[in-house]
Amino acid sequence: MTIRNVSVIIFDDIIANTIIRGEKMIRKVTDKIFYIGCNDHKIDLFEGQYVVPNGMAYNSYVILDDKTAVLDTMEEKETEEWLSNVEEALGGKAPDYLIVQHMEPDHSASIGAFAEKYPETTIVGNKKTFNMISQFFPGLEIANKLEVANGDKLSLGSDELTFVMAPMVHWPEVMMTYYPAEKAFFSADAFGKFGALDVDEEWACEARRYYIGIVGKYGQQVQAVLKQAAELDIEMICPLHGPVLDENLEYYIDLYDTWSGYRAETEGVCICYTSVYGNTKKAVQLLEDELKAAGVENVVVNDLARCDWAEAVEDAFRYDRLVLATTTYNGDIFPFMKQFIDHLTERNFQNRRIAFIENGSWGPVAIRKMKQYLEAAKELTVAENNVTIKSAMTEENKAQIKALATELAGEAVQAEETEEKPVSGKKFECKICKYVYEGEALPEGFECPLCGRGVEDFVLIEG
Ligand code: FEO
Repeated sequence: MTIRNVSVIIFDDIIANTIIRGEKMIRKVTDKIFYIGCNDHKIDLFEGQYVVPNGMAYNSYVILDDKTAVLDTMEEKETEEWLSNVEEALGGKAPDYLIVQHMEPDHSASIGAFAEKYPETTIVGNKKTFNMISQFFPGLEIANKLEVANGDKLSLGSDELTFVMAPMVHWPEVMMTYYPAEKAFFSADAFGKFGALDVDEEWACEARRYYIGIVGKYGQQVQAVLKQAAELDIEMICPLHGPVLDENLEYYIDLYDTWSGYRAETEGVCICYTSVYGNTKKAVQLLEDELKAAGVENVVVNDLARCDWAEAVEDAFRYDRLVLATTTYNGDIFPFMKQFIDHLTERNFQNRRIAFIENGSWGPVAIRKMKQYLEAAKELTVAENNVTIKSAMTEENKAQIKALATELAGEAVQAEETEEKPVSGKKFECKICKYVYEGEALPEGFECPLCGRGVEDFVLIEG
């Protein structure tokens, strides 16, 4: 689990970049660009599922050129504050354009209120934008609209905006906007992060959790946008969440390239586990100790029943090795692990080394099930020394875990042979209750000890 250092910025720290008109606070980004977004500390779950302990920022910008443009609107709760910011930033002028880069309601919920207040403003979007506006705001009359496509330009007077279509980063209508006068790239959700702007915290931790969780599925599309952006002379990235990025841009772009390319960012082992009575947890703790003893510096452990699942997903994508440890449960795997694997595969988890630990007091099937649920994941290299525990660790299990740690630390070895030998290479599964019998053959007249069914209801699943 990643540890965060959090401290609240003292107001004086941001006052240098802030202009105050009346009681309103609007941040001057450049001579022509003003930040008019809002912080949200009342939010429960972002997008209905992500915990945001440090709140959320919804960014919006005004460009003051010969003509004026507002870039994106606001989440519903903050509409009033945002409209007031728009008015203050414009200094009494009406906006010429509203550029709608993204229609997800954290940025678009105030379009109706904006259109009512500024009916003459031209609303700029692409074909999909306007379809979505009519879906989210049935009956809304827009007097002036301008439909744009990839590469189209819009003059603001001294310079012109260029629109870059960015479908599925992270909705299909998303577009980004380049303003050469200030070498500013308005990047919609890309390069955003969780966290309000009046809280000081490391960028990468919450940007990674945001990216993997929300945009992780769309790596290919992000790579396509990075290619287009590479053609532009960019000195500043203005996202819809998180801070404006105006120095060391290579660092942020490199991270985005790594994440969207599904490459591991950090060498280390991420262990994600579930444990019902603590026996699987003990195995995980032993593995953690053995990994450290074998020289692995970064080992992170997530208890999937108790941690923030999005942190665990972030860690799985961040590190180059992943260990999944869980119990057999109802002939399947423990629900938190099942859901976790689903989170991984729906985000195109791939290109990692992976190992498994299973626990089952009778008929353990967790490794087989986990492998099955991960079938869609490409380029996974499965460890040789996966571990099966039956209830509590035996000495043989401890040796197997040490062998697994050695393998994951870099050296592939087989677990040392001990006195305890597997009964047989064959496994037969009861079709009714999933009980697994291990042995060369089912004994004549055998009955399932769980459901009482006979040999006719067993199938060979291994060996
Ligand atoms: Fe910040 Fe995709 O909305």
